[in-house]
Amino acid sequence: MKEQLAALRETALAELQGMNDPKQLEDFRVRYMGKKGSVTALLRGMGALSAEERPVMGQMVNQLRQELEEAVAAKSQAIQEALQKEKLAAETLDVTMPGKKEAKGGLHPLNVVLEDIIDIFQSMGFDIVDGPEVETDYYNFQALNVPEDHPARDMQDTFYMADGLLLRTQTSAAQARTMEERKPPIRILCPGRVYRADEVDATHSPVFHQIEGLVIDKGITMCDLKGVLEQFAQEIYGEETKVRFRPSFFPFTEPSVEVDVTCSECGGKGCRVCKGAGWIEILGAGMVHPNVLRAGGIDPEVYTGFAFGIGLDRLTTTRYKISDIRLLFENDVRFLEQFD
Ligand code: DAH
Repeated sequence: MKEQLAALRETALAELQGMNDPKQLEDFRVRYMGKKGSVTALLRGMGALSAEERPVMGQMVNQLRQELEEAVAAKSQAIQEALQKEKLAAETLDVTMPGKKEAKGGLHPLNVVLEDIIDIFQSMGFDIVDGPEVETDYYNFQALNVPEDHPARDMQDTFYMADGLLLRTQTSAAQARTMEERKPPIRILCPGRVYRADEVDATHSPVFHQIEGLVIDKGITMCDLKGVLEQFAQEIYGEETKVRFRPSFFPFTEPSVEVDVTCSECGGKGCRVCKGAGWIEILGAGMVHPNVLRAGGIDPEVYTGFAFGIGLDRLTTTRYKISDIRLLFENDVRFLEQFD
């Protein structure tokens, strides 16, 4: 029985040596020390021994059992440590590896400029309003002092739709709508898309963007118009920017002006950007025509006002030196990702 014990010990310890899996180890423990295990069987088999041999053998078997239990515990710890090491190695991060660049979205350049403009006018107390792009002839033309047979309609090639509707040719269509909804004092800005049946080229597009401004109150004069536009131009182009008014004609304003600013590129000396003029035209404006006030239900004897229309696309292309307006509408990511 002693030899049997020694042999068992040897095989058990040898088997344990090469083990590296917790499941195998558990299996081993059951096979030797479980209820039906070989060591347990030895203890059971002691009934056949003599009374003198029994305690001696009992002690030896118990010793083996203890030895194997300790070996299993040690092995178990060793296996756990090895597994942990393996796991850590697999999870090692090379912090010197270059990161993956996240593609990030950005604002469209038209929106960058529009947001700047909105900020400036909001700080002067203007509300931002919205108007429909599918408009009636009335709001787009008639309420703006452009009757049906007025030659000014020739200036704008209109997309007409069924049922007397059209695609608005100007954000000025917001004027009468606003006057119907609000009482003076009125101070609004209406940005949006406008449409004209123009051929597409580097400076023309059948869809483009305007920002309409309208101010109506008692005692509003052209000085107020000039002050507001000067403030606007200087915030957009810099404090040294000068503004000039040139007489012009629009059916919905009297008097009407075209507004130029000194070229921000050359400061007024003349360069490629301003085509040598030193000035860049940025908008049309004027004092709201009495007929327009009347159409909006406002008494021109009591109230006066000014209006202006900014071309957003032009402002954007000059700011970013974009040579072709089509780039603003093609949504080429290689172009758009250059702006934030
Ligand atoms: N609606 C005009 C256009 O499309 C721009 C304009 C000029 C708007 C003068 C105005 C204004 O409000 O007073 O060309």
